[in-house]
Amino acid sequence: MAKRNLITAALPYANGPLHLGHMVEYIQADIFARFLKLSGKDAVFVCADDTHGTPIEINAAKQGRKPEELILEYFDQHKKDFDDFLIGFDSYYSTNSTENREYSDLFFKKLKEKGYIYEKEIELTYCEKCSRFLPDRYVKGKCPRCGAEDQYGDQCESCNATYKTTDLVDPYCTVCGEKPTRKTSKHYFFKLSSFSGMLKDWISYNERLQQETKNFVLNWINEGLQDWDITRDAPYFGFNINGEKGKYYYVWFDAPIGYIASTANYCKNAGRKAEDYWQGKESAITHFIGKDIIYHHFLFWPSMLSGAGFNLPEDIVVHGHLKVAGEKMSKSRGTFVTARQYLESQNPEFLRFYYASNLSHSMTDFNLDEEDFRGKINNDLVANLANFAYRVLSFTNNNFGSKLDSVKEDSKFIEEFTKRFALVSEAYASYNFREAVRLILEISALGNKYFQEHEPWKLIKTERKKCHEAVTFAANIVKNLSILVAPIIPSFSLRLQKQLGMEKLTFRDLNFEMKNCEINRARIMFTKIEGKALPVDEILFPLSLKVGEIISAEDHPDADKLYILKVKLARREIQLVAGLREYYKKEELLKRKVVVITNLQEASIRGVKSEGMLLAADNGQEVKLLEAPDSKHGDAVKAGNFRTAEKNLSFSDFKKIKLIVKDKKVFWSDSRLRTGKENVIVDIADGAIVR
Ligand code: MSP
Ligand code: ZN
Repeated sequence: MAKRNLITAALPYANGPLHLGHMVEYIQADIFARFLKLSGKDAVFVCADDTHGTPIEINAAKQGRKPEELILEYFDQHKKDFDDFLIGFDSYYSTNSTENREYSDLFFKKLKEKGYIYEKEIELTYCEKCSRFLPDRYVKGKCPRCGAEDQYGDQCESCNATYKTTDLVDPYCTVCGEKPTRKTSKHYFFKLSSFSGMLKDWISYNERLQQETKNFVLNWINEGLQDWDITRDAPYFGFNINGEKGKYYYVWFDAPIGYIASTANYCKNAGRKAEDYWQGKESAITHFIGKDIIYHHFLFWPSMLSGAGFNLPEDIVVHGHLKVAGEKMSKSRGTFVTARQYLESQNPEFLRFYYASNLSHSMTDFNLDEEDFRGKINNDLVANLANFAYRVLSFTNNNFGSKLDSVKEDSKFIEEFTKRFALVSEAYASYNFREAVRLILEISALGNKYFQEHEPWKLIKTERKKCHEAVTFAANIVKNLSILVAPIIPSFSLRLQKQLGMEKLTFRDLNFEMKNCEINRARIMFTKIEGKALPVDEILFPLSLKVGEIISAEDHPDADKLYILKVKLARREIQLVAGLREYYKKEELLKRKVVVITNLQEASIRGVKSEGMLLAADNGQEVKLLEAPDSKHGDAVKAGNFRTAEKNLSFSDFKKIKLIVKDKKVFWSDSRLRTGKENVIVDIADGAIVR
């Protein structure tokens, strides 16, 4: 039975640019959709902009514009980004569409008829100063479940709990900062609680779902599900409910319905019916989502679908979050990279390849690291894969008039390859793209080895026919690679196939039957990255700091305010000259674990060598050493999660660096100085300057 496969990626909000974190999901889903299509499956890949909600309404109001105008701008921008990243949606639509309004009304009507939606007068958070109800993103406070501070009104980022804005402890309006009041309003509620049994079965018995996600979700169900408020009050940008003045569907009600609306958009152009995908028997829906929206996709959405008589998804693939340089992307650290910024400086297929090399069927976060990126591109993609293709094809151009002969290889050897082709398919089918890349590189390395060992540049002089056959076999490996990589780097694949004189090969064309034909001119398609690999300007902490233990202290012979100290680091001892004589006695210094700068240019102070500097805080009256008593000599001291620059500093560079004391701790901007074990401490009042 030929199933109709529907692939979706989560709908990005139409109130900001796409960034490299978003691209993880769209690239992941695109690779899967392309793989299905290339394996001869009926597959359709849909997505849309998620256009509704308070942020868009507030943004538009701030700019004195209509939300409709704003979302059109983002729509064009997103669409262009997706095209340039080669994301091959069959339909990219908008949740602010006629179809979505109709489906949203249909869901509401059906769910209401079946008794899954009820009305309730509720008390809501209201800001008198802003004269608006404060929806979840506009009120913050402490999480009612775990107590984490500064959590939004809908969900806790720390413990993942979902709750109502009025549940927040010590709330405040994020627009004006005032403490909000409460006001009543009539809202519609979706009876999520009556789906517990259905959800539990669906999740427990679905073998495709990731175990880690299942555990999460089953836990939530066991804790008891709360009914879900699907109404928002004006001012709001969304679909009006039931013609009732000032009442709208909550954005998360109509957003997933946008998957259906986008399918309908595809279908109207393709002569198909959305119902075949969403209500027909022969269909399989696969959602790709990030781990932050599990609740919505594993609880709300399946319940809505089931309650309204639609199909449940066959699979929901959850991926982890992208980190850049080891951390959550951050504008202030220069690691927030938009899709456009990337496209302006780097090849989109490099990112696709890099992400594929990291993605598996797991929701662990993964890191975009510049050096790792450069290595994977230069060594794996360029030197191994692209170079192999160019070598074989250009050799054919130059020595055999671009003609191929026949393949004469023993079947055992051919088997080595075909076995791996099957494994690549399996890896793609199980979302294990990292494994697919590994196998592809193995095939390419085998190809390189084959070419190298046959030494065609020598063989051609003695056994021309044999040489031609070997080159033809190698060209077949190239052809097969062009197919295997197509889901990941589709443009490379297409151009390579053109060079082979072929077109639109599919996984059914994986064989060694290319022979007696003519190829086109080989072209170099990728070259190694030289210079900057990514548009990331990572801010580094400029001081290289170590914990040092003072092992001796002596007076400076020629200066009555200075000591000469010997300080033990990890494996070495250094000598420092420090102006501490007025503040510490020699005995008081011994055995103290202090903080030493180790990337300062060596200096001579009144004729005595000083190989670094101790950090101390000064408030004009007293001077106190920075200390890390429970750490080991040699331990590194870092500022928050910032990486440390290696560069040597002059004393005037050092003087520009501002470290301040707050609450007996030391800060570089907002980041605390700390070792792996503890905060650096200094026993002095706030405001002291560290020098
Ligand atoms: N609009 C909702 C989804 C509605 S689906 C019916 C939304 N939008 S989003 O723009 O915030 O995120 C879109 C997708 O991108 C989500 O699946 C999200 O997990 C993913 N990512 C956003 N930032 C990400 C990273 N830093 N890393 C990986 N994926 C990330 O949520
Ligand atoms: Zn306010």
